[in-house]
Formats: sequence, structure tokens, C-alpha cells
Amino acid sequence: MYYGCDYNPEQWLHEPAALDRDITLMKKANINSATLGMFSWSSLEPEENQFRFDWLRSVIDRLYAAEIAVILGTPSGARPHWLAAKYPEVLRVNARREQQLFGDRHNHCYTSPAYRTRIGIINRRLAEEFAAHPAVELWHLSNEYGGECHCENCQKAFREYLENRYETLDALNYAWWNTFWSKNISSWDQIESPSPIGEGSVHGLNLDWRRFVTHQTKDFMLYERDCLKEVNPDIPFTTNLMMSSEDSSMDPGLNYWQLARELDVVSWDSYPSWHLPGYKMLALESDPTEAVDDYRRASEVAFQHDLFRSLGGGKPFLLMESTPSNTNWQPISKLKKPGMNITSSLQAVAHGSDSVQYFQWRKSRGSFEKFHGAVVSHRESAEDRVFSEAAELGAKLNKLESAQVFGSRISAGAALYFDWENRWAFEDSKGPRNDSRKAYVETVKAHYYALWSQGADIDIVHSGSDFSVYKLIIVPMGYLMPEDTAARLASFVEAGGNLITTYFTGMVNESDLCYSNGTPGPLTEVLGIEVSEIDPLYPGERNSMKTPASGVSAGLKLPEYSLRDYCELIRPQTAEVLAEYGADFYAGSPALTRNSYGRGQAFHIAARSEDSLHIELYRKLLEECDLLDHCHGWNLPAGIDIRFRGDAVFIMNYSADNQVIEIPEDRAYRYLHEQLDCSGRLELPAYATEVLIKE
Ligand code: GLA
Ligand code: ZN
Repeated sequence: MYYGCDYNPEQWLHEPAALDRDITLMKKANINSATLGMFSWSSLEPEENQFRFDWLRSVIDRLYAAEIAVILGTPSGARPHWLAAKYPEVLRVNARREQQLFGDRHNHCYTSPAYRTRIGIINRRLAEEFAAHPAVELWHLSNEYGGECHCENCQKAFREYLENRYETLDALNYAWWNTFWSKNISSWDQIESPSPIGEGSVHGLNLDWRRFVTHQTKDFMLYERDCLKEVNPDIPFTTNLMMSSEDSSMDPGLNYWQLARELDVVSWDSYPSWHLPGYKMLALESDPTEAVDDYRRASEVAFQHDLFRSLGGGKPFLLMESTPSNTNWQPISKLKKPGMNITSSLQAVAHGSDSVQYFQWRKSRGSFEKFHGAVVSHRESAEDRVFSEAAELGAKLNKLESAQVFGSRISAGAALYFDWENRWAFEDSKGPRNDSRKAYVETVKAHYYALWSQGADIDIVHSGSDFSVYKLIIVPMGYLMPEDTAARLASFVEAGGNLITTYFTGMVNESDLCYSNGTPGPLTEVLGIEVSEIDPLYPGERNSMKTPASGVSAGLKLPEYSLRDYCELIRPQTAEVLAEYGADFYAGSPALTRNSYGRGQAFHIAARSEDSLHIELYRKLLEECDLLDHCHGWNLPAGIDIRFRGDAVFIMNYSADNQVIEIPEDRAYRYLHEQLDCSGRLELPAYATEVLIKE
């Protein structure tokens, strides 16, 4: 278990006493790890080939003496001035073909030979200096890899990537459907990355460019890794992945399914907007005057934790960054209310994290992040609320060490499909709606909520996953559905699995070409339906789904459900109709179907519905599959989430109210924080978490 922070001692080398106080304060905060070196290039190599490792060695030695483990970063996330001045090719070129000046960070060209040479030299030197140091336990490559570069080196690499993928121009022209608008390519040199001043309307090109950016970033990451492993192959490595909820401009634009499978351990940076009013799953419904819904936010964060755990193949992941109080970059960087930091940190642990790490240990005095939350504030007081809560959490995590939590896996019987290629292709598609209510990611989260809010453990899967280990798989808006993925989903159902798909599934193949047998393409047989048309609804326009007896037998409780955004018109082949549309020219036609296939069944939800439909349908299936057994007996008030990992039970209050929880009578627990049996009623203050240990 790691409990620690990003630590930037290079900002305090002029004040050695501050570094002494750091170690004392870290011990007081119950911290056992520190991430160093991530943005230290100019302190480690102030001029080309002039290295300064003494300061870093002294910090690592002192941390080691204090029994604080070191996660050592490579510095590629931000380069020194001399490097950009001498090798301008390292500077990124944007999609408008403008080369950037020196500045900011996260902006190197991942193809540039000069950048690779220089990062190779510093990484090897770092490894030679520190890879044998007993404090160093993990490599942390770079920082939040992401973004894209359109320079000539990258164009060349893109063309080579395409030549490898397609071999012939005929194959490429076919895959990109280039006869349309006379786009046929007759020489590889004609290919350019997508650009606002050039090509933007070839969907196949756009998708392949995204694939290439992932490929090239991965290639750079593996190069960084190899330089370190050459020196000592035994130290595992990670890189901090990221996922933002509100700000899509912060999306790294990478297919993490490709990147993550190379990592020894997956880690990620989590910065949710707790306490933000008006949170709803589907973007357009946010109304800033609405009440805060931290429970709903918790579901979104739970989805992200489950995603990162699944990206690592189910192994424990690391929460690599989080803020102990506020960020400095959200439109309004709110404080975490008392209790919230402990609760959001323990939520990560409950979902499979073996760490809680903060950005940052000490607030810098100047520049961009001086107002970002930190364990140690500018006034450097261990009496501060943030510091005290951090210390309290450290003590709790230490106690958890004996509860078989860290290292343990969570075995989920239910899976939710989330695929980056599907996302890119769908978001790029034109029509039938082009507004923000296309909402792929939000739709995935809405279906996640229906599973999570009932207590289910959930894995996230993608086009290449092994589906056979699950009992229930939900595929929301699986627009890009490769044939082999569809075939494996069909085998899953045939063998007894329960599959649920929604509108916009099975439309195109991996080249973004529409299936010539129509939608749902290779899923037609398993779903037992054909989709004839899809009607997008205007904002505010509604239809409804009416529930006859067949729908009631599938668990639906309401006589009708409200629908919006998308209504597919479907023709059942072998499927039975569970519910029908209530209005418009397709009133009375099927809106929800079920098809028996082999030993399993496949449902299709043809329209975007309110949550209650998913909650009720999934409840019945989760119960039939025995996937809610672990929650049996718990009757929780609204705003409370309960999770089980190892011997621990995490009861988390995401509401602003103090709550009372009834412990089921047949259960024997003790409190984590004291040797006291716990039975009867448990009082849980606002935003607090109680951890109980099975006796
Ligand atoms: C990212 C970076 C950190 C820091 C934080 C601030 O996650 O990795 O270096 O900038 O954001 O929230
Ligand atoms: Zn480049």
C-alpha cells in the first residue's frame, strides 16, 4: 500500500531547512511514499550532458532513512530550454501546421529522433544512479502522456503506419471509402494527418489518425521503459493515466486499452468535481440551479476506478494523483468538505486501488500551480484541516493493511462495454444528430449507474476482451462493432450469457464502413431483430415506452417510461417484444426486445430512456445471475454506497446529511479503528466513511 504525494524538492533546494521539515511532516501525516523527479529535467541536466544527481540522491537517501518509498519519475513531461533551442524538431506542430514555441509542458513530439536520444540519455543515467537504490520501488514514466503532433517526422511515421496496416493503396482507398468526393489516393505521400485547413471529412482517416497517435505514443513510452529496464529489469513501471469528467479538452486522445496492457501496473489521476450542483449523467440536462448530487458523482468516479482496474486486467491499480483539498484548474476549484477526502480516497481503495497518492505534498510558492491544493500549505501548519484529515486517512490505511484488502482482486460477474475506437468513430459520425446529446460516454455512465446503484461489482470491457467470464454484459451504443467481437458476444450468449445492447449498436465495422446487411450487422442473429430507421428527437421532445405484461415479466414496474434523443424503429425476426413505443407514427412498434439464443438471452433497448428502465431491467437480471448476493440484508438510505473488498466493508456517505445505517443482524463485524464489535445501528456523519472488518 502506498500513501503519499508528488514531491518536488527541487523547488526548495535553496531552503534546506524546508526539506528537513518535510520529512518530519511526512511522518506526522503517516505518509509512506513520494513520487520524485517528474518535472526535474532542468535540475537534473541544466545544460546538455551536465548532470546533477547529488540533490536527488540526498533526498532519496533521507526518504529511505525515514522509511518512505520512492516512485521515481522520468522527466519527459517537460523539457529544458536548451533542448528546444538546440533541437527545434522536439517542439510540437499543431493540426494547423504551426510549430509551437518553447513553453508549457506535455508537448514534445513523440516521433522526434532528437527527443528520443535525449530522453534515452537522461533515463539511462537516472537508472544507473538510482535503479539499485533500495528506496526506489517503481518507475513513473513521464506525466499524463497525451495530445498529438503533426510535424513532418510524424507525417512520415503516419504514412509508414498506414502502409503497414493496409499494404496497398487500393485497400486503404476502400477502407476509407475514398471514391466519395473524389478522395482517391494514388501515392502514399498524398496522405496528411487531419487538419482544420485540410482534410477533416474522411472518417476512416480520422479514425486511423487516432489509432496512429496511440501507436506512436505507446512506442515512445516503450522506448522510455526500455532505457530503464536495460539497467535494472526488476523495477516495475507505470505511467499516470487520466480521465476528466467535465472538460473534454483535457482528454488525452489515447486508446488506453492499447497503452495499459503494456504497463506493469496501471495508475491514474482522479480529480472529480465533488459538490458541483446540477450533476446529471447526460450533459445537456445539467442545470446549475439543481441540487448537488454527490452520490451521482460517486457513481461516475466508481466507473473510472473500475475502468482503470479493468485496464490492468483486474489487478489492483494505483491512485497516482488526487487532491487533498482543491485543484486550481477547474472553472471553480471547490474545497472538499470535511470527510470528503477520506471518503473519495477510500472509494478508490474499495474499487481496487492499492494506493492513495496526492498531487501535491507542498504548495509551490510561484507559477502555475501555486494555488493547487496540497497536504502542506504555504503557512506549513500540521494543525490545518487538510493536513489533519490527511494524517487521519494515513492512520486508517495503515490499519487496513491487516484486513486482506491490498493486493486482493474484485471479481465482477457483470461487465459494461466501453471502447475508445467506438467512441472516436461514433463522436466523429455525421447524423442523425450532431449536438452534444450524441453523448456516448454519458450513456455508458448512465448504464453504469443502473448497475452500481444496486451494489453490483462491475468490470469494464472492450472489443478485445474475454467475455466468457461474465454472466451479464451491457453494450451501450456499440456503434463500431468488429465482426470478431460480435462473434464472441454471440458465443457468450449461446453459452448462457445475458447480453443487453442499445440503439446505435452494430452499425459499422472497424473501418467505419456501414454493414451491408444493415444494423445491427453481425449481431442481427443473436439479437433477433433488424433496425430499419432511427429517429432523433429534438431537445425537449419525448416519446414513451409502454409496458405490456411481457415487459413486466422482465422486471419492469412502471406502465410507461419516458424516452428522448433516439428512437430506433425495429423489426423483430426471432425476438419477442417486451415493450412498445407510445407515440408518433411508430406508436405500437417494438421498443424493447428479448431474444433467446442458445442457452442465453439478448435484450435490445431501442431508445434512450430514463434511468428507471435500466435499473429495473438490470435488477431482475442481476438477481437471476446471483450477482447481488453480497449486498443481501443491507437496507441503505439514499446517498449511501457500500463496497466489499478483502475482509473490509466500506460504507460511504455521499450526502450532506448525517445518516443512520442498520447493520444486518446475521453479520459479525468490528470497527476498523478500534477493537469494538459493531452491531445494530451505525451513525455516519455527512461525507464520512465507516470501514468495518469481517470477524
Ligand atoms: C495533473 C498532473 C500534475 C498536476 C495536476 C494538478 O494530474 O499530472 O502534474 O498538474 O494535474 O491537478
Ligand atoms: Zn512530430
